[in-house]
Amino acid sequence: MTGARFPIVRGRRLRRTAALRSMVRETALSPQDFIYPLFVTTGHDVRVPIEPMPGQAQLSIDHVLEEAAEAHDLGIPAVLLFGIPSHKDAGGAGAYDESGVVQEAVAALKSALPDLVVITDVCMCEYTDHGHCGVLLDDGTVDNDATLPLLAKIAVSHAASGADIVAPSAMMDGQVAALREGLDGAGFADTAIMAYASKTASAFYGPFRAAAGSSPRSGDRRSYQMDGANAREAMRELEADAAEGADVLMVKPALAYLDVLKAARERFDLPLAAYNVSGEYAMVKAAAANGWLDERAAMLEVLTSIKRAGADLIITYFAKDAARALRG
Ligand code: PBG
Repeated sequence: MTGARFPIVRGRRLRRTAALRSMVRETALSPQDFIYPLFVTTGHDVRVPIEPMPGQAQLSIDHVLEEAAEAHDLGIPAVLLFGIPSHKDAGGAGAYDESGVVQEAVAALKSALPDLVVITDVCMCEYTDHGHCGVLLDDGTVDNDATLPLLAKIAVSHAASGADIVAPSAMMDGQVAALREGLDGAGFADTAIMAYASKTASAFYGPFRAAAGSSPRSGDRRSYQMDGANAREAMRELEADAAEGADVLMVKPALAYLDVLKAARERFDLPLAAYNVSGEYAMVKAAAANGWLDERAAMLEVLTSIKRAGADLIITYFAKDAARALRG
């Protein structure tokens, strides 16, 4: 801006027509920006709708393949897999079972769609009967250091099935280093790590936990997930994961943490992902279902805000809808 003022300066001149607005638009969304999360369950021809996440479902591998092929055709480069095992136990052994749901889904996807990037969530909460993200001690605390080798084991099992990227989400200290060491030791030096680096204890995971049946049976996740009030601590978490060898850093959730995302963009040169989580999706869907919001416009506005704040990659349940909307 020069020192000129109204009536010389008129912001409306470049808003007059769609062509002018389009020419000066600063942020453009593309299907290439999206990562589509999928919930994999056991069985054949299973599609169990997830009530608080309209349009999303628990899917058996045959349907995962269909969904992934559709996403791929829409120009979405990657999927992020979550497993819903048939059996949970205290140790979460299903998480590193070589014939577990995620491991088999990865192998099926890589053979059917070799160009699709397959990312896997690495955590214990979907596999433990107590629902915590790591090893639970009798006093109700989650044992950080005892959890690390298990997370590494899960990541190695995903890499062995062909995963391109593993994404640790348990918020254990040292988890990125543990995964890197485990992967390198098992011959998977080329498997990348996308670190859930700044992940807060958020109310916006509610619908996901209903989908994955992963709510903690007792207590909460506040002793390992971050306090959402802390932006400087978020920088320390991102810093730690970058130093431990993360290839991609993630901020989660996205919408209530756009300031963290923006600060992360200014501070780090690594690719930055933001997770537009289940509750953010549910809010838009629910309001739209009531006729209170224009779903398409609200979806694109939310996703644009996340990209504008600095995300290179947006993990979103809207991926397919948004890719279609962007096609026009
Ligand atoms: C697993 C995990 C969660 C989410 C992603 N990975 C749940 C949690 O931490 O409780 C949430 C994703 C979403 O809400 O869409 N730890």
